[in-house]
Amino acid sequence: MQKKLFIPGPVDVTQDVLEKMATPMIGHRSKEASALQRGISDKLRKVFNTKEEILLSTSSGSGLMEGAIRSCTAKRAAVFSVGAFGNRWYEMATSNNVPADKFEVEWGTPTTPELVDEVLSTGKYDLITITHNETSTGIMNPVEEIAEVMKKYPEVVYCLDTVSSMGGTKIEVDKIGVDICITSSQKAFALPPGMSMCSMSQKAVERAKTVPFRGSYFDLLSLYEYIQKKDYQYPSTPSLSHMFALDYQLDKMLAEGLDNRYKRHAECAGIVRSWAKENFDIFTKEGYLSNTLTVIKNTRNISVGDLNKKLGNRGYQISNGYGKIKESTFRIAHMAECSKEGVSELLGVIEEILGL
Ligand SMILES: Cc1ncc(COP(=O)(O)O)c(C=O)c1O
Repeated sequence: MQKKLFIPGPVDVTQDVLEKMATPMIGHRSKEASALQRGISDKLRKVFNTKEEILLSTSSGSGLMEGAIRSCTAKRAAVFSVGAFGNRWYEMATSNNVPADKFEVEWGTPTTPELVDEVLSTGKYDLITITHNETSTGIMNPVEEIAEVMKKYPEVVYCLDTVSSMGGTKIEVDKIGVDICITSSQKAFALPPGMSMCSMSQKAVERAKTVPFRGSYFDLLSLYEYIQKKDYQYPSTPSLSHMFALDYQLDKMLAEGLDNRYKRHAECAGIVRSWAKENFDIFTKEGYLSNTLTVIKNTRNISVGDLNKKLGNRGYQISNGYGKIKESTFRIAHMAECSKEGVSELLGVIEEILGL
């Protein structure tokens, strides 16, 4: 049975978007491919609120994350972690022999501007990574406040993971001074997994030119230079099927109106949060709650596996907790094409199953 997905990616993809994946192929060295990919980058600039370049990658977001930290760290990276995906960025650095230190806070709490300031004031670092929306803990970090601190450190390249938030909440990449902002197709963009997108500032481009060993497939500088020279064609054969679907989905998102889309996400988040407070508790620190997913404290000690099995029989799926909070939390995503009616229906079914 096909289930309605309330997991934080992959999410439900509408039939018309799925059908775009079946568009007949074109040559990846054709004028049509250039026009398609150039058009996608232009539309993505509106979603990212950036005037900088956009890079498209046939990989999930992790590929661009690894590429960013490897391509743009000349001295040492400061990795700010608020959960599993921040930690992953640190592992990517160390396994690529990129000098890095990790600054991890207690799960459920944010990276504060004070911490960023304290770390950068040492002068040891020339790149930072921040997770905007930590999918393991439900934290949405205070990037506007962090932006104020970053103004003091213009030499530092700022990388932001917006894998589970871009497209679901407003992120003003240029205004908050982000140099490389990364996202994936399978979350708030409501596309199948397998594609990722990032912005790359001129500052990041110049930095990458000073880094001798940037790898190959995920060398962001080579992607950047290639699309400049070859009118938005890429060095390797991209997933053109994703390109067709992304182009179409971006038109739909812009037609919905980005502010309307963000409002819809915030409303769905509001419904799930008040339900969670009434029936369980929220794991994440108040004031830093994600608009695209809610991490709920399992205060009733229910078996989340059992609940999900019963939900599955009725055609729904939610997520258990992630990593070390697997048993003590569960997660409900409200992203992509979520609706107030859809989340209310899910919560009603959970109440029925649990007898709440
Ligand atoms: C916050 C965050 N960062 C990074 C990733 C990794 O992205 P991907 O699975 O697209 O490689 C995920 C995936 O769930 C995520 O939620």
